[in-house]
Amino acid sequence: MPELAAKDACELLDADHIAVKHLFVDYARLAYAPDAPGAAERADIAMKICNELTVHAQIEEEIFYPALRKVVPDAAGLLDEARQEHQQVKNLISQVREMGTADTTMDQLVADLARAVEHHVKEERDELFPKAKAAKGLDLAALGQQLQERQQELEAEIA
Ligand SMILES: [Fe+2]
Ligand SMILES: [Fe+2]
Repeated sequence: MPELAAKDACELLDADHIAVKHLFVDYARLAYAPDAPGAAERADIAMKICNELTVHAQIEEEIFYPALRKVVPDAAGLLDEARQEHQQVKNLISQVREMGTADTTMDQLVADLARAVEHHVKEERDELFPKAKAAKGLDLAALGQQLQERQQELEAEIA
């Protein structure tokens, strides 16, 4: 069987962005259905969203952001802002995790989280990734490999 082509750093991170976007849509579809079924299912999706975002933010903070900061000095402001946005996302994640069941409060928190993530992802896509792609001396393929390895390690820990 042919091996799947390895993703470079931006492709890998953006694949995560797309995957979590789908989870937010799944959650909203259940939360706003007329008979609001599946509270347990919603809670499961919410925990999956929290886990995936936690791993994603961690690999960006450990690997991607520092690599970018090193070779693209003018990305410093954007990266500082990105770290602050991660902090907001983490605060919302801990509130969601404290909720035992999916009720309207969780629905609201997940909606707030979706909005915060959407805003942050847009900045990564529109501003950070273009800088990373244009940077000389940044090996996005090697960085993608590193991100993937660390992601697998963290996913194994969190599972
Ligand atoms: Fe990020
Ligand atoms: Fe990201």
